[in-house]
Amino acid sequence: MRDASLTLELWRGSVSLAEFFMKDQISRVESEALSLIDGVTDMRGLEDARVSILGKKGALTKVMSGMRDVPKEERPAIGQLVNKTRAAIEKALQEKEALLQRQADVAAVADVDVTIPSRALFKGGMHPLSIVRYEAVSILRRMGFSIEEGPEIEDEFHCFDALNTPKDHPARNEKDSFYFDSGKLLRPHTSSVQIRSMEHLTPPVRIIAPGAAYRRDEIDATHLSAFSQLEGLYVDRDVRVSDLKGTLEYLLKELFGPGTEVRFRPHFFPFTEPSFELDVKLCAVGQKPRWIEIAGCGMVDPAVFEAVDMSRGSSMYSGLTGFAFGIGLERLAMIKWGIKDIRSLIENDVRFLAQFQ
Ligand code: PHE
Repeated sequence: MRDASLTLELWRGSVSLAEFFMKDQISRVESEALSLIDGVTDMRGLEDARVSILGKKGALTKVMSGMRDVPKEERPAIGQLVNKTRAAIEKALQEKEALLQRQADVAAVADVDVTIPSRALFKGGMHPLSIVRYEAVSILRRMGFSIEEGPEIEDEFHCFDALNTPKDHPARNEKDSFYFDSGKLLRPHTSSVQIRSMEHLTPPVRIIAPGAAYRRDEIDATHLSAFSQLEGLYVDRDVRVSDLKGTLEYLLKELFGPGTEVRFRPHFFPFTEPSFELDVKLCAVGQKPRWIEIAGCGMVDPAVFEAVDMSRGSSMYSGLTGFAFGIGLERLAMIKWGIKDIRSLIENDVRFLAQFQ
């Protein structure tokens, strides 16, 4: 479409013929460009339009080559016009691009129903055994015990000899413990860590050792062949049975509540004298209250200190006193939650485990 006012200016002689042609072409390119952009329906079409207007061989670029026929004094005015036109075209391109992008976004979620409830995320949690171990360890650490470790594949010295356990003791039997051909064995209790700790620590010693223990036990509702213990050892001058009782009673009341009932029964272990078994009264909702054995404990037998001193080649421990205990962690979990069958703790049934989160 030709600009009528421009034609009038030519008649009046206020523009040169060259300027007239340039202005005329520029306004034509502009209106054609704008209607081309207007008709574009996708991004690819928009890019094609951009190239055909502003590209090296584009319509506006071509018009610019007519500049050389325009008298010098008229060029700035034409230049300004070209810039204005280019700006108008670029704006139209940008607006079209934003519009197409909006349309594409809307189309992308057209089939999505955002009101449908999302699927619940599966949330993991701590295993009940880890929970009781963590709680028991935290309480004992508050009381000043620190953590020690020992190997699960042990030698007979640390499992038995140093613990005053004679060669003919039933626990040393092939039928009761898992032996390797080398003569080593899977430790049948964590008491081996008592010896390992005293071998490298200087008394007073106040340690706990959570860890796995292994026995050739018949697996039933209260026994596993691989289970978890929490060993404890306190060695100093003048340690008494009352210290042992106080420590364990405090631990269990912190764990299970202040009303927890605890009972020490005389027992025998080769490495403690006197020795006890420790029971806790399980009062679970809907179950008849009953005593559950959870630990062995006692005052460290002087023969154990003697063995450690022999192994260290010193007399650091002779004359000291101490207490030791070994708690069954599965049993603690059973009491805490009224779990009837110990095997639930190793079956990894999510329906069971999800209850403890
Ligand atoms: N080691 C013993 C057991 O596993 C428990 C125990 C530990 C007893 C420490 C006394 C002292 O049965």
